[in-house]
Amino acid sequence: MGAFLLFVCLLAPFVLACAFRGSRRRRAAAATAACGKALPLPPGSMGWPYVGETFQLYSSKNPNVFFARKQNRYGPIFKTHILGCPCVMVSSPEAARFVLVTQAHLFKPTFPASKERMLGPQAIFFQQGDYHAHLRRLVSRAFSPESIRASVPAIEAIALRSLHSWDGQLVNTFQEMKLYALNVALLSIFGEEEMGYIEELKQCYLTLEKGYNSMPVNVPGTLFHKAMKSRKRLGEIVAHIISARRERRQQRGSDLLASFLDDREALTDAQIADNVIGVIFAARDTTASVLTWMVKFLGDHPSVLKAVIEEQEEIAKSKGSADEPLTWADTRRMRMTSRVIQETMRVASILSFTFREAVEDVEYQGYLIPKGWKVLPLFRNIHHSPDHFPCPEKFDPSRFEVAPKPNTFMPFGNGTHSCPGNELAKLEMLVLFHHLATKYRWSTSKSESGVQFGPFALPLNGLPMTFTRKD
Ligand code: HEM
Repeated sequence: MGAFLLFVCLLAPFVLACAFRGSRRRRAAAATAACGKALPLPPGSMGWPYVGETFQLYSSKNPNVFFARKQNRYGPIFKTHILGCPCVMVSSPEAARFVLVTQAHLFKPTFPASKERMLGPQAIFFQQGDYHAHLRRLVSRAFSPESIRASVPAIEAIALRSLHSWDGQLVNTFQEMKLYALNVALLSIFGEEEMGYIEELKQCYLTLEKGYNSMPVNVPGTLFHKAMKSRKRLGEIVAHIISARRERRQQRGSDLLASFLDDREALTDAQIADNVIGVIFAARDTTASVLTWMVKFLGDHPSVLKAVIEEQEEIAKSKGSADEPLTWADTRRMRMTSRVIQETMRVASILSFTFREAVEDVEYQGYLIPKGWKVLPLFRNIHHSPDHFPCPEKFDPSRFEVAPKPNTFMPFGNGTHSCPGNELAKLEMLVLFHHLATKYRWSTSKSESGVQFGPFALPLNGLPMTFTRKD
């Protein structure tokens, strides 16, 4: 209950704005319905006035149970009201495609204003139209397979340093994976040459992150205030790095900053800073959560772990010496490990859903989605539907020996805002697991079962674990 209240408080400004807009829209929809012309709203329940079904959602402890129950009762499109916002949830591949791909222009991304301020209002996630397309070109170019393939040895060096620091220690797997993912993200953004600034940048980012979910009250002493101060400093650090690069006239390269600087329609320093910070944010907890689940699932399924070890040992043996670095081509041979990554992302579905907002009244399959309502494609429900994945709760990487049906597997989203970092995420997971599987052992126990949400689904307490070198 405490957590519930805290959550509601944190989102208060968002909640009030939504509640006001939402009730106005509901009245409008009802009014049109009264003259007999309007389309019906989707089935579902709007719960109590103002709070809607927020309490039911949070008291279920696991939001996925709430969504699954609703889907069973009302079908793949239903309405509800959470955190002050009237919402339409969609859980069929067709409806998710409608919202994210074919009619994406009718649904804009939506975030609370305080989060936008903290990450940077000009960051890619919050945009639509030409500016979004422009950013997307630059970001996708930096994270394309052609750009990242040369960074395999540098990612491998980060992976080896991480594993070495865990050896024989009881570590919090999630926290360690976050550090690994942060280091890889910084490498892919700045390359290997900006090390002078990187330590301070990391510290500022960590302070920003601590304040991200705090009450948005910008008063000295609060976490939010500290986070906003760090955000300002982060902007200054990125500006220093940019001017140092411009002085060196070193604008070509394959990292993200080079992609931003080597652009005819140049971005401003503030636009670059917002997007650099946004990418770190997008890259870190997501990748770390999937890596943590992989450790858990492999520990729980010894036969799958054995197959991964065999595959990785085969690749290790094919190298001339133990020190020979991994290559991009080696990672393309990691088919079993890639299937484990896919199955981990399906079962864990760390991003259970995403948020959009209807920019005008939209008709979908005879239902009205009113302007201003939130629309949530429920990725997890799609990934856990027995229609698309038989025995969906079973962890079985072999199901990915056959490609899933179109639009049924969307761990990286779909359409205009789908994840441009997906190749990098997969690469860093493969590289880390190559060394983890060949050089280390770990084991999970029943006492480590359980899931927490914060906001991504994670093994309980971040999966405390001891990794020990095999030799
Ligand atoms: C396993 C790890 C990851 C997962 C599961 C993941 C998942 C996602 C998803 C589902 C979206 C779409 C959200 C939406 O439609 O609202 C997204 C967007 C995004 N991701 Fe990832 N991501 C991961 C790693 C990364 C990495 C490593 C980077 C960058 C290095 C990255 C950068 C981004 C960016 C910039 C966007 C916003 C794209 C846009 O709005 O056009 N992600 N990610």
